[in-house]
Amino acid sequence: MALITTKKMFEKALKADYAIGAFNVNNMEIVQGIVAAAVEEQSDLILQASGSAIKYAHSGYLIHMLEAAMEEANIDICLHLDHGADFDICRECIDSGFKSVMIDGSKYPLEKNIEITKKVVDYAHISGAVVEAELGKLAGVEDAVNVSAADATYTDPEEAAEFVYKTGVDSLAVAIGTSHGAYKFKGTPKLDLERLEKIHALIPDTPLVLHGASSVPAELTAQCNEYGGQIPGAQGVPEDMIRAAAAKGVCKVNVDTDIRMAMTAEIRKYFIEHPEGFDPRSYLGAGRDAVTALVSHKIRNVMGSSGSAVK
Ligand code: G3H
Ligand code: 13P
Ligand code: ZN
Repeated sequence: MALITTKKMFEKALKADYAIGAFNVNNMEIVQGIVAAAVEEQSDLILQASGSAIKYAHSGYLIHMLEAAMEEANIDICLHLDHGADFDICRECIDSGFKSVMIDGSKYPLEKNIEITKKVVDYAHISGAVVEAELGKLAGVEDAVNVSAADATYTDPEEAAEFVYKTGVDSLAVAIGTSHGAYKFKGTPKLDLERLEKIHALIPDTPLVLHGASSVPAELTAQCNEYGGQIPGAQGVPEDMIRAAAAKGVCKVNVDTDIRMAMTAEIRKYFIEHPEGFDPRSYLGAGRDAVTALVSHKIRNVMGSSGSAVK
């Protein structure tokens, strides 16, 4: 069993109009919860770690946890760096065993984004790793990135074609209306699927990536709020929009917020129902099971990747 690139999984997904879930990991329970779901669904799997996740868990721990998971479950996994901020973090991850990295140059002007992406692509390809880049700017807040709605810009299809041609990048994240975090839309959710179609038509062989693709299920928000949370007005991308995007060239769908919500909702419930409890195995175990249930549902009903690991 080995850490693998996304190459083969994307080839299959692109042909058959489904997507692979790329799930963010930060600790052992999240890794175990997601892997159990992928095994249940016999799905190809991408686990991704952001710079902040690496700072929190340390890359050695993350890699060794994935090695243990692969050995126990008898599956291959792609370990991907999410939102690599610069060349150095991409190089460090590749050198320590990651087979896929994202260089996020979306905050730069086009030429500078091309330049740093190309530098990472050249390094990665020599080392047998693949690279995702981003063009256009998603709104939203994560640890390392904070883009206001006014600064967000959608991906220009012609620029996307030029970008892929000039960088040789393996996959491209596009901005079509999604955003990071739990508050994605103020009114009715809307994605620019026509723009996605145009991008896909111009670069049909390039796997596209959807960031900020959590659905923020109403029942998870309600459970968090019922058990003491305060997450009013959270709203995500409706599941049918993710399915539509998967049929238009999107091969990788990034999910972090929903995992956080599932785990938090369950742990909140546990503490309210068991005020006497203080064994981390009890509440983290409950949180882990909630992650498995969420990810199984996504793989089966949203990504459509069930069975992809055996195809
Ligand atoms: O898109 C970013 C992910 O949600 C990672 O967030 O930087 O808080 O780990 P993080
Ligand atoms: P969400 O905040 O919608 O889960 O997006 C996660 C993401 O894009 C990670 O790169
Ligand atoms: Zn992202």
